[in-house]
Formats: sequence, structure tokens, C-alpha cells
Amino acid sequence: MSHEFAPFGQGRHLLSVLQFDRENLRALFELADAVDPIAKRQAVCTVLDGAMLGSLFFEPSTRTRLSFESAFLRLGGEVTTTTGFTFSSMAKGESIADTSRVVSGYSDVLVVRHPDEGSVGEFAAASVVPVINAGDGTGEHPSQALLDLYTLEKELTARGKTVDGCRIAILGDLKFGRTVHSLMKLMSLHDGLDFTLFSPPGLELPPGVKEYVEARGHAVHVVTSVAEAVRGVDVIYATRVQRERMATDLAQANAHGDLLNRAILADAGNLDAIIMHPLPRDSRPDSYDLSDDVDDLPGLAIFHQTDNGLNVRMAIFLTALGVSLEAVHLTTKQRPWKATLR
Ligand code: NCD
Repeated sequence: MSHEFAPFGQGRHLLSVLQFDRENLRALFELADAVDPIAKRQAVCTVLDGAMLGSLFFEPSTRTRLSFESAFLRLGGEVTTTTGFTFSSMAKGESIADTSRVVSGYSDVLVVRHPDEGSVGEFAAASVVPVINAGDGTGEHPSQALLDLYTLEKELTARGKTVDGCRIAILGDLKFGRTVHSLMKLMSLHDGLDFTLFSPPGLELPPGVKEYVEARGHAVHVVTSVAEAVRGVDVIYATRVQRERMATDLAQANAHGDLLNRAILADAGNLDAIIMHPLPRDSRPDSYDLSDDVDDLPGLAIFHQTDNGLNVRMAIFLTALGVSLEAVHLTTKQRPWKATLR
């Protein structure tokens, strides 16, 4: 395989947000904008006709897997998928390297989620096609950070603001929440950011992420209450307690009430803030997550994130496979059926 084509900064795989600079980030976001009619099903595209996505999810996922697969299908490609260890040969002791070499031989690109940090890099090392990291344990989740930042930029622009200089509160499980680790690093490409962090005891942000952000000139304040965190910020990014990744006593200690709800926002005088969450939101009682009583607030952006995820993942595939926008236009036609509801 040629090593000269390096669409994500370093090599053909997308493993980490650290592969981005402002230039290749802008190029990806422009592509995500350009494919919007295809993402919204106003147009039908066949540019990936004949291409095969190998979708390997060894950890639970709904939206990440479905949105990667939908993105590939909307570009005219085909998808083969395997979920969990039980139904794969890894249950028979097959190594990551062997699995990756075999499946990459059947595919043009792989999307991989795995519970161990660094494991998707191991898949990439043995793969003969580009590998996209869809989450490696508590490590990275670059496509989520890209769609989060893409959404954040649009929400801020609609309010006459920019990502540069934005004030963001990040709440919840900052230790195990990989989306936060990736988002904070990716946002650091911008200028003059002000992060306010709140996490329950035992779930603090890993020091390395805080140091990374501070070394790039951004302010990081750690506070001890949600009310304090959300006062005066432009954006609030709430996260779920990742109970499956922690000991039972820590999980139980963080099972009470809401992390964020309407009353807290009203008390803080910030009912207009942009509200984001990577989802899934844990809606069980006492889950200590974002309450659904914020759902009719004007700044709720959680479903804009999920919708935008399609555009961003389409752009990731086009970039990974070296497909030009011209080729996309040449293979796109108006849809012949009636409009969906939006
Ligand atoms: C996140 C993940 O898997 O890291 N979900 C997602 O991909 N949107 C967040 C989570 O599981 O809490």
C-alpha cells in the first residue's frame, strides 16, 4: 500500500484526534457540509458503489455503529458487520492481528470499536485497508469529537459566536468518558478556550488531558458543583456515568438524582446555554445524567449532534478512500420519492 496518501495527517487510518490540524479539520468539515443533501436524503449518491465497509463492534453501540453504517450506505457502499465477541472468532482465541488481517481482506475500510485502550491501533497495524477508530476503551473516540466540534461550531455560529474564545462546562464522568478526552484535545486547536470541569469524586479528568489543554494556552477550572460550572458558559457538555467501566462501589456512589436539570440551569440563570451530550443519555431514575426536563429548551443540541454525525462520518469515509467532491457530484441524483418529515 502507498504511504504517500495521508488524508488524516499521519497515514491512512483515523485513530486519534491528534492527527488533525486546523487545515485538515476545515477540509473535513467543508466536505461534511457538501454532503448534506445526501445525509438528509434529498439526493441519492452511488460514489462508493462496489465498496465494502467492515464494521467490527466488540463493545455495545447503537448510534455510532448505525451512523457509520448509514453513512457508508448513503454513499452507495455495502456493509458487513459483526457485533460482540460472542459471535466472532475472538471467542475462539483469535488475536486482534489475525482478525484484522482477515477481515480487512474482505473490506475497503474498517470501523472498529473495542473495549481496550490502544486496541484499535493494533487492528490498524495488521490491516491492509484504512481503519477508523470508533472508540477504544477509555482511550479515544475521534469521530464523536469531530461531530461534536462540527455541531458546536454550527450552534455557536447561529448565535453570532465562534469556537475561538468559547466558554464550555464539561460535566459528569470525565475519567472514563472517552468522548471528553477526544473533544478537549480536538477543541484545543482553537484559541482562547475556557473549560470549566465538574465531575463527582473519583471520576476526575485524567491529568494528561488537562495538561495537554493547558499547554496549548487554554484555561481549565475545576469546580465542585454543577451550579457553579454552568453559570455564564456558552456551552454545556454533559456525560453519562460509564458504570460498565468502573468498580461497583464507585458506580453506586454516583447513582443519585440528576447531573443537570432545568432547575439547576434556571438557578444559574443560563436556560439559553447550548446543551450537548454524546448520548446515550441514561434515563433510568437516579442515573445521575442529563434530565429530559431540559428537552424543550432552545439550546438543546443533542439531536443535532446525532444528525450531524452522518455528515461527518460520510466525510471521514470519503477522505479515507480518497474520493473527490467532484466524483460525489457526478454520482449524485435527486431522489425520486416524496420528502421525509424534515
Ligand atoms: C459514547 C461512547 O461510546 O463513548 N457514545 C457514543 O459513541 N456516542 C458515550 C457513552 O457511551 O457514554
